[in-house]
Amino acid sequence: MPVTNETEKKKVIFSAIQPSGTITLGNYLGALRNWIGLQDEYDCVFALADLHTITVRQEPAKFRQNTLEAYALLLACGIDVEKSLFFIQSHVHTHAELAWILNCYTQFGELSRMTQFKDKSAKHADNINVGLFAYPSLMAADILLYQADMVPVGADQKQHLELSRDIAQRFNGLYSPTFTVPEPYIPQTGARVMSLQDPAKKMSKSDENVNGWVAVLDKPEDILRKFKRAVTDSDGRIAYGPGKDGVNNLMGIYSCITGKTNAQIEAEFDGKGYGDFKTAVAEAVIAHLTPIREKFTQYIADKAYLEQCYTKSAQQALAVSNRTLRKVMKKIGFIPKPF
Ligand code: TRP
Repeated sequence: MPVTNETEKKKVIFSAIQPSGTITLGNYLGALRNWIGLQDEYDCVFALADLHTITVRQEPAKFRQNTLEAYALLLACGIDVEKSLFFIQSHVHTHAELAWILNCYTQFGELSRMTQFKDKSAKHADNINVGLFAYPSLMAADILLYQADMVPVGADQKQHLELSRDIAQRFNGLYSPTFTVPEPYIPQTGARVMSLQDPAKKMSKSDENVNGWVAVLDKPEDILRKFKRAVTDSDGRIAYGPGKDGVNNLMGIYSCITGKTNAQIEAEFDGKGYGDFKTAVAEAVIAHLTPIREKFTQYIADKAYLEQCYTKSAQQALAVSNRTLRKVMKKIGFIPKPF
């Protein structure tokens, strides 16, 4: 119950991902793996942001399955509900409540400037709903409810975090200090994993070319095949450098998994060809992901255990977040809730 233990005063980290389908090697190395390592040093609050997911239309059965699978997979990756809170956002009603309140402290102009809103409304032109527009104020609610000191975010979410800070500062200024103003957390390690087919682009499950991305739960033979087909160059040397995006990406992945430096990798593959190198990267990835896949299989078969984990975390998250919500409502002038 780390977050409620105020005697220790560890810094609070909040992060969330959407349960919107396949989790890729890019999501894992870029974000999730860093979360795992933070759990001892910080009070971590992690959520599956399913309320955010419905800003894009979901098929109900698939959505339910994606959410449960994402929960099981993150447990399999090493999120530990004894150390951290790890819950499903829609189970903790304070998120939706604070989001509404923060909507009233967020300007139309600010939300209109969000690049993700512009991108997503271009992509989903037939469903530019208000939720898509107000997405960042729900994110602000997620973060501010837990008085988070730091938020690990990728480049695509930086603008949203900036806005969360602005909203927090605005509210604190209008009333009195209420919210901790969150800082971005920049991890020491972690790779920006690029597409195996077009290494100028970030690895993404929405890539039409399935050989461009690897899912954490991919079968070993698929992982091997995808790495063997990875784009390199005609230079033939396993060396990090400009104009070698494909090789750089593979070196980044290998380094992230094995902890080896670029110099060590260059020495290891000196005189060898891309074929050997790609196989070695694939094998390292497979060896790393195999225990995760095995744990996932075990967790997803045990619905009762999953329910026990997310229920316990949601109850704790509700208790913590309600303290902030009540404070906020009191300052605004609502009659205190009778229950
Ligand atoms: N919007 C984030 C994403 O899609 C997920 C998210 C929701 C989040 N709430 C958050 C991330 C709060 C950081 C903090 O990646």
